[in-house]
Amino acid sequence: MNVRKPTPLEIQKAAEAIRAGDIVAFPTETVYGLGADVFNPVACAKIFEVKQRPYFDPLIVHVESPQQAGLLFSEIPPKASNLIAKFWPGPLTLVLPKTPQVPPIVTAGLNTVAVRMPSHPVALALIKAAGTPIAAPSANPFGYLSPTTAEHVKEQLGNRVPIILDGGSCTIGVESTILKVNDPPVLLRPGGIPLEDLERELGKVVIANPYGSAPEAPGQLKSHYSPRAPLFLVHDNVVFPKNKKIGYLAFQKAPVNIQVTKVEILSPNGDLREAAANLFSCLHRLDAARVDVVFAERVPDKGLGRAIMNRLEKAAARQNSF
Ligand code: TXA
Ligand code: MG
Repeated sequence: MNVRKPTPLEIQKAAEAIRAGDIVAFPTETVYGLGADVFNPVACAKIFEVKQRPYFDPLIVHVESPQQAGLLFSEIPPKASNLIAKFWPGPLTLVLPKTPQVPPIVTAGLNTVAVRMPSHPVALALIKAAGTPIAAPSANPFGYLSPTTAEHVKEQLGNRVPIILDGGSCTIGVESTILKVNDPPVLLRPGGIPLEDLERELGKVVIANPYGSAPEAPGQLKSHYSPRAPLFLVHDNVVFPKNKKIGYLAFQKAPVNIQVTKVEILSPNGDLREAAANLFSCLHRLDAARVDVVFAERVPDKGLGRAIMNRLEKAAARQNSF
């Protein structure tokens, strides 16, 4: 049984595994991560193998304190210090020039590194006990739905990860916001900290084209976060297929006049935080219902809605429109 309650003893054992060059799945407030010692390139390579992740897609490094980020960033400009003071611990990843100590496998050869300090107590305790920053992408096979429970990790990677720390459901439910601290700053991925909150601190933030042919972040791939069933966004002229098992992802209420096999509702009150927290669980349940196709409603493109729409658009990018 590799799913463990995160008691102090189990956290110690997981930290020992990290120190010994093994990988561990652990909870964060955003999604579950698959972690290794950032300074051990062989351990980091295991992450790529287990996830079947392409080596051109760099990892996010997790620290237990702002001081620890000093091991990874070659310098921290005042703008970044302010963001750290305001948003860490929490779902904000900052991209800045790296120190020579960060191995190229972590950054896919880039001269910058992506770092965040998670707020989940189990993640913080694990990094502290390991005594090293932990490189960790989401704990799912590459391109598939991100895990927001230990069960999701077990279903997807269970036999390939020696330890899964079970910290319950992730409260934020979408990955961290990724910001490159340039002048002006560039939003590389919308996520758990809304763009509006960043702009309040920074002024104008440039939004990277998520579908650019030469993305600045190699991980800004067009298709990602996909369920097994093809996913389509609902639009005004959509024609629902007959004789297919339809899964339906609703924002606030179940659809009327459509014959669907399974409906999942993101947030009956239209609360975008709740919707984000439920997003991946709802999609996992639609997949578990073995539907042939998933139709997803759009949500308002503001606050956390921007992160939700980014995930849905990427999931939908795998197929042509319906
Ligand atoms: O919430 C999260 O951020 C979760 C949890 C586990 O912390 N982690 C996560 O990792 O989402 P992952 O592997 O899905 O995100 C890594 C992405 C890359 O695909 C890329 O877009 C960006 O982070 N990234 C990493 N290093 C970068 C760099 N040096 N420059 C630009 N983007 C980078
Ligand atoms: Mg991921």
